[in-house]
Amino acid sequence: MDSIEQRRAVLKSMFGRTPSPMSQAPQAQGAPAPEYVRPARQRPVVDLPGPDEADLVKTEVRTCIAQRQSRRQFSEAPLTLAELAWLLWATQGLRRNDGGVPRWRTVPSAGARHPFETYVAAWRIDGLSQDTIYRYMPATHQLETLATVEDLAARVVEASCNQQWIGRAAGAVLWACVPARSEYRYGLDAVKLCLLDAGHIAQNLYLAAEAIDAGVCGVGAYDQDAIDHLLDLDGRDEMIVYYSPVGKNGRL
Ligand SMILES: Cc1cc2nc3c(=O)[nH]c(=O)nc-3n(C[C@H](O)[C@H](O)[C@H](O)COP(=O)(O)O)c2cc1C
Repeated sequence: MDSIEQRRAVLKSMFGRTPSPMSQAPQAQGAPAPEYVRPARQRPVVDLPGPDEADLVKTEVRTCIAQRQSRRQFSEAPLTLAELAWLLWATQGLRRNDGGVPRWRTVPSAGARHPFETYVAAWRIDGLSQDTIYRYMPATHQLETLATVEDLAARVVEASCNQQWIGRAAGAVLWACVPARSEYRYGLDAVKLCLLDAGHIAQNLYLAAEAIDAGVCGVGAYDQDAIDHLLDLDGRDEMIVYYSPVGKNGRL
């Protein structure tokens, strides 16, 4: 079992050092850059509505910031595909198209490395199959269909310390880190930068959800192996770092 002292040493080791290990990073050594997103395989894709198509946004940004809170009450109504698409665009979508390279997104990322893949676990989202896992493809604003998992909501709850409220959402958006993308530029410092990137993504989710009266709540309490296994991630080259249930806001 780790001690607090050991954990603090791990934390401090993430803060970087001088000289920065960037000089030993693959980019400085002239290695080829890793891909920005995993390419789609031959699987069915779902085209998503663009962020402006559904005229969803009703709340100006000051109110979104002032009212933002972690929401764990959801309406029983399904989330619409347009609402999900808006949340995906706000968290990982493109703000500028760079010849098909998904480099300039709605969130910042250290060195524009964008080390995250976004997965959607859907159990009550209109236009998506129930109990199905998808992957968001930012360059084309599509979802790639990955797998069907029986009782998906219950499996996510189980992997998340049995937080029952999660199962009452319409689904979940999960962020998996591909460390090599950030390590390419930052070497050992990538670990810190990946976590900082995750914070930016999640905050955009919170504010974008508030703008359309959806509910989200960051989840860090989950069993790492269980959640990685559910998403079929190896936990080494790709691992879940953070996620949020999503649903229509059910505030009383
Ligand atoms: C990194 C992180 C992990 C979190 N994990 C959980 C979680 O597993 N379960 C939960 O119910 N809330 C979780 N939360 C939500 C916090 O409990 C919440 O942000 C905090 O109570 C403040 O409330 P507010 O977001 O409404 O201001 C998490 C928040 C963050 C930022």
